[in-house]
Amino acid sequence: MVKKILLGVVAVVVVAVVAVASYAGVQISRFNASMDKVYDVPIPEVVRSTDPAVIARGKHLTNSVGACSGRLCHGSDLGGGPTTEMGPVMVFSPPDITSAGLCAAYSDGELARLIRYGVKKDGHSLMFMPAQDFRWLPDADVLAIVSYLRTVPPVERPNGPTAIRPLGKILDRRDAMVLDVARRIAAAPVDLAPPPTPTAAYGKYVAHMCQGCHGEGLSGGPLPGAPPSIPTPLNLTPDATGLKDWSFEDFDRVMRHGVRKNGQQLNPFMPIEAWSQFDDVEMQALWAYLRTVPPTALGNR
Ligand code: HEC
Repeated sequence: MVKKILLGVVAVVVVAVVAVASYAGVQISRFNASMDKVYDVPIPEVVRSTDPAVIARGKHLTNSVGACSGRLCHGSDLGGGPTTEMGPVMVFSPPDITSAGLCAAYSDGELARLIRYGVKKDGHSLMFMPAQDFRWLPDADVLAIVSYLRTVPPVERPNGPTAIRPLGKILDRRDAMVLDVARRIAAAPVDLAPPPTPTAAYGKYVAHMCQGCHGEGLSGGPLPGAPPSIPTPLNLTPDATGLKDWSFEDFDRVMRHGVRKNGQQLNPFMPIEAWSQFDDVEMQALWAYLRTVPPTALGNR
């Protein structure tokens, strides 16, 4: 009798292991097939501008809304960021995008296509770089970023490793995170932002930059599959477990100086080196929008 029960248990475990392994195998091969795809997205006809006002707008967007020069992104000199190890999910090292790196290889149109569609020079999808979060930038803003990047002094720094690991591939296919960027952009309708105003209508677009970490619904919670060394993004909705009792001044202080309402210093994983450079319109727009999202308990992402 005992033997029979044991045999039964072993059989159930074996079936479960085989089912999980074959599910994982299917998801991983779907991910690989999607990353092998060559996208037929025409190269936009973009020619860099040398107008100082356009370059200044590009510099602002690169350092603030785009967060390109963030510490864990391409670095303050845009010569490439550090290697971030995310265990079984992935390892990533943002590359050199100065004229000694990416900008040497890409034409103006190819750069614009990369920013808008997440498609690389060779037609494959970008890995992980969240182009889906700033694809709302209107054509004039994309042109401004391309024009500014052309003026950045070259930095010679070798690029570190970037690889998506099996758990990352499965999480991507389950939509728990976006690593296969061009597939998402190709599937979503184009929705470009209106001209900047300090309103929720504009803040909704700026807030896309927060959703990769704080979640689609902005209520935070641990990043899927992240090792414990990565802090948990907090709740940005007007819930009691979020920013319910916060004023604009509290919000502005944490975004510009990294000091939370409770006086604690913010973990540097939250990229305030970019957010501190939002202009007043962007900061107010973002705050106006955060007050309109449904209050949700922490952790529902
Ligand atoms: C790279 C991931 C990442 C991105 C992108 C990000 N955050 Fe955060 N954020 C975090 C983490 C992690 C914390 C918690 C840090 C801690 O515990 O000290 C945090 C904390 C915060 C807090 C403090 C909340 C509190 O209760 O003190 C605010 C406000 C905030 N983020 C706003 C934003 C906004 C607005 C954006 C988009 C413009 C954004 N974050 C984008 C990771 C991120």
